[in-house]
Amino acid sequence: MERLILDCDPGQDDAVAILLANGATNLKVEGIVAVAGNAVVEDTLENALKLTEEIKMDVPVYRGCSSPLIRKQVIAEKIHGKGGYAGPTFTQQRIKQCAGDGIDFTIDTIMSNPGEINLVAIGPLTDIAVIIKKEPRVIDNVKRIIIMGGSLIEGNITPTAEFNVYADPEAARIVFSSGAEIYMMGLDVTKQVQLGKDEFKRFKEEQKNSPTRAREIFIDGMEYYTSTCVDANHEYPAMHDPCCIAYLMDPSIFSFVERDIDVETKGEFTYGMTVGNWPDKNSKTHVGIKADSDKFFDMLSKSLSK
Ligand code: RIB
Ligand code: CA
Repeated sequence: MERLILDCDPGQDDAVAILLANGATNLKVEGIVAVAGNAVVEDTLENALKLTEEIKMDVPVYRGCSSPLIRKQVIAEKIHGKGGYAGPTFTQQRIKQCAGDGIDFTIDTIMSNPGEINLVAIGPLTDIAVIIKKEPRVIDNVKRIIIMGGSLIEGNITPTAEFNVYADPEAARIVFSSGAEIYMMGLDVTKQVQLGKDEFKRFKEEQKNSPTRAREIFIDGMEYYTSTCVDANHEYPAMHDPCCIAYLMDPSIFSFVERDIDVETKGEFTYGMTVGNWPDKNSKTHVGIKADSDKFFDMLSKSLSK
């Protein structure tokens, strides 16, 4: 059983990561922390609360940081919709409440379960940086830090920077240079897992044959997300965030190279770029370079059928 804390900014693909984790038989989600990213933290928190309640996911939801460490906040409602999660409809009588401060919850959980907890970060790395600064011993007590962010080749929010790193480069620099065991799911690998026409058709078929609420929410969100991705980038949506969950469910569907990651925090045209340096002998940063997309969608299909 892999235990994890999910630090996220729901967010269309964050929502898919939550749906994937909820149906996984070998994962235990100890808590979800909503951080500012795709939308302001009030919205990412509300999205996490209403989604987990809607799918009856028994997990506490905490509030993370509301702004980047230094830079001016950027959000991505153009891609994810007003409030960060357009498309699905939720029942109004949401009763689930925020369980408290996400930074202290994460530190306490990791420190009281040494070597047990995976910290999965699929939004800007603000919370993770604050956690490392507040309690540096987390570095040696966390099992792994699994990050959706960065890329070795090109960006998505700028030609050189991926959104999660671009939204808080100073935080990313702190995390990547911390010495923790890091698995980086950057654009190099996440863009290989694309929800194209055929994949989407499969889920619509499955929903027709044996409908579930989880799959209905997935389809409604992805219909919206596909339209904005095709309009903005002329490409089908990549399953960026769910790749981090899929890694914990079945590491064998990914392959990695070791790189020591630097983050550009000064460049005029390269602000937020991640640079993969040839690793020194004790490098502990594993960068995803290959994904088995078919196996990913088989896992997602199983999770959504619950
Ligand atoms: O670049 C992709 C990342 O930015 C994903 O985490 C997506 O949710 C957005 O936050
Ligand atoms: Ca995200």
